[in-house]
Amino acid sequence: MRHFLRDDDLTPAEQAEILEAAAAMKHAPYDAKPLVGPQTVAMIFDKPTLRTQASFGAGIAELGGNPMLIDGALAGIGKRESVEDVARILGRQVSAIVWRTYAQSDLETMAAHAGVPVVNALTDEFHPCQLLADLMTVREHKPELAGLTATFFGDGASNIGNSWLLAGVTAGMHVRISAPEGYTPSEEMFARAREIGEQTGGTATWEPDPRAAARGTDVVVTDTWVSMGKEEEADARTAIFGPYSVTQELFELAEPDAIAMHCLPAYRGKEIDAEVLDGIQSVVWDEAENRRHAQKAVLDFVLRHAGERA
Ligand code: NVA
Repeated sequence: MRHFLRDDDLTPAEQAEILEAAAAMKHAPYDAKPLVGPQTVAMIFDKPTLRTQASFGAGIAELGGNPMLIDGALAGIGKRESVEDVARILGRQVSAIVWRTYAQSDLETMAAHAGVPVVNALTDEFHPCQLLADLMTVREHKPELAGLTATFFGDGASNIGNSWLLAGVTAGMHVRISAPEGYTPSEEMFARAREIGEQTGGTATWEPDPRAAARGTDVVVTDTWVSMGKEEEADARTAIFGPYSVTQELFELAEPDAIAMHCLPAYRGKEIDAEVLDGIQSVVWDEAENRRHAQKAVLDFVLRHAGERA
């Protein structure tokens, strides 16, 4: 069974194939119908959502399927009923499961017991669907992904930091994490990225000095300093990440044709200046749109490969 639980579940060739398919789906949104029936895909949210629910819901419908929203609070997965039992139950009803939750280990448990493909719609550790949309967006603005330098500023230990490291290096990019000590991806995450980089030519580095990190960057990336679930640390985080704010001044240190990316929701004046987010080099609205196309392509991929061993 193929699942999409973390960015490195896809080989470099598979990632490239999905990005190609996503671009074709954007061009002809109603041509691919792998969910004709309609087959149902369960979408479960244990954390807030806007883009993810909207883009999966619309995308599943475009694929000929029926998006079924499951309210995580009502279902009480892991509380009212074990993750294993929920997986077995849903697997008898639906063709695939899309889940946003906290622990990556719970997502893995779901995948081990569902009997249908499971897709990560964000965990504390990874946000791999966002990265497919991001890479698709970069491809729309740059001739090729391999060899580009992307720098993530802010909480490098977050889901977006980890996912940029793995997915970017899978695409052959040079990924820099510019974050304070204690807020970088783990040593294991860097080791995994470097292992992938041996095949793709991509590299993974940590640069704590944001100005040094910005120089030579083609893709400037940031995200909220307070990820969902970290709200109690909001004040401390604002002080810690202040120097990593993507201000207009920092953005101007990057390549003249650099693009600015943010998975949204954005907090203007905190992790990014309004001037950058709303400026002409920002591609954030394309990123948000491309969630739908990229997720359709990944759903199509896991459904086609559902019978295979990962
Ligand atoms: N790092 C953010 C991403 C939101 C899409 C969070 O987890 O809240």
